[in-house]
Amino acid sequence: MTKEWLPANADELPEKKGRIPGPRSARIIRADQRLLSPSYTRDYPLVIHQGRGCIVEDPDGNTFLDFNAGIAVLATGHCHPRILAAIEKQSQRFVHYSGTDFYYDVQNELAKKIVTHTPISGPKKVFYTNSGTEAVEAAIKLARFHTKRPNLISFLGSFHGRTMGSLSLTASKTRQKEGFGPFLPGVTHINYAHCYYAKDKTECALKPIRYLEEQLFKRSLPPATVAAIFVEPIQGEGGYIVPPTLFLKELRRICTKHGILLVFDEVQSGMGRSGKFFAAEHFDVEPDMITLAKGIASGLPLGCLVAKSKVMDWPYGAHASTFGGNPVACAAAVETFNLLEKGLLEHTRTLGAYMHKRMQGWVKKYKHVGRVQGKGLMIGLGIVYDKKDNIAHFALRNKIVEACFKKQLLILGCGPAAIRLCPPLVLSKTQADWGMDVLEECIRKLSR
Ligand SMILES: Cc1ncc(COP(=O)(O)O)c(C=O)c1O
Repeated sequence: MTKEWLPANADELPEKKGRIPGPRSARIIRADQRLLSPSYTRDYPLVIHQGRGCIVEDPDGNTFLDFNAGIAVLATGHCHPRILAAIEKQSQRFVHYSGTDFYYDVQNELAKKIVTHTPISGPKKVFYTNSGTEAVEAAIKLARFHTKRPNLISFLGSFHGRTMGSLSLTASKTRQKEGFGPFLPGVTHINYAHCYYAKDKTECALKPIRYLEEQLFKRSLPPATVAAIFVEPIQGEGGYIVPPTLFLKELRRICTKHGILLVFDEVQSGMGRSGKFFAAEHFDVEPDMITLAKGIASGLPLGCLVAKSKVMDWPYGAHASTFGGNPVACAAAVETFNLLEKGLLEHTRTLGAYMHKRMQGWVKKYKHVGRVQGKGLMIGLGIVYDKKDNIAHFALRNKIVEACFKKQLLILGCGPAAIRLCPPLVLSKTQADWGMDVLEECIRKLSR
């Protein structure tokens, strides 16, 4: 079988041409500091000039191996020829016509792919957005509209976006909320099941469930007033945390019992990243709605809300977006699905398992690696002071991220002190080995 998803430069590795950042990069960084919002989070001085496959080149000619994928977005890597061809073909026909007011077929073509692959049974419908946060906003509005209930539940450590509705659900870092309140009324945050370090995983999974049922629902939050529970089936920004299956199954049970909608936010974990089309499939739990964005269009801005047709019952004019469902982004998304269907998903699963196996050994080998957790190419390493108490070691995590950058491996942090690896799904084994060698060397040197 030809590997249509495989980039031409699948085995390219980084090269150093000069200082990092070099003079051209430094000039761009200085202009950026003068002109752009100081709220942007730049952990190291990477300037991107061009990208191909899993390789990023800076304006000074230095190349880097990309384990970030533009924050879990570039599913098919940089400038995949099949994605570029789809973009070009659509661009030559028309680039915009507001799909919420008029009709065009590529929206339907993509919706067919989405409803085929999303793990929600029965008829489904799609609402298009430009980003993850807007997909979550749409889910909040639809949940309230459909149930006629005001309240929402989400989880500590969760990230659902930064617009006012989704930010009200977000509870990842206080910096993201400080000074922006008051938030949406009616949002309650409860603990997520972060059970990696727990001796009794069942007990750990059930703890937030019992709190919800035996405390909140009995003392302060009548379940009949709750419209939806929003949950990331694998917590992303919060630390790449995989919960026990029981936790998500219990949420499903509670939602069914009380007529609450279960919303899976798969903005980060969806589109093959976890080695299945959607992370929900790992747990065999079916939500009522799914939010998507990031990897869906291989880098073009697109998101969506998928819901059971009987839930998506808002009428003409109730919700829309001028740019949502942009035809060029939709064409890129159709091609992204095509590549996943043609072997890329399988590759993600196999390569993810391979990487996971090697890095799992680091938990025993290095005192500061507390956990290696993840699915597919969504892998998180928890950096801790030591194994006795597993307290997050924020400073060491940051040093590792910086050291990797200097060695031309691009990684990111997430959560209190986790390293997140979310490379393009087209990463080759040669590149994966090189990246893991660099990461291990940085961990080893800084762990002394
Ligand atoms: C799970 C999840 N939901 C929502 C969002 C928000 O997406 P966007 O940045 O496209 O608005 C993110 C972004 O990181 C995310 O990881």
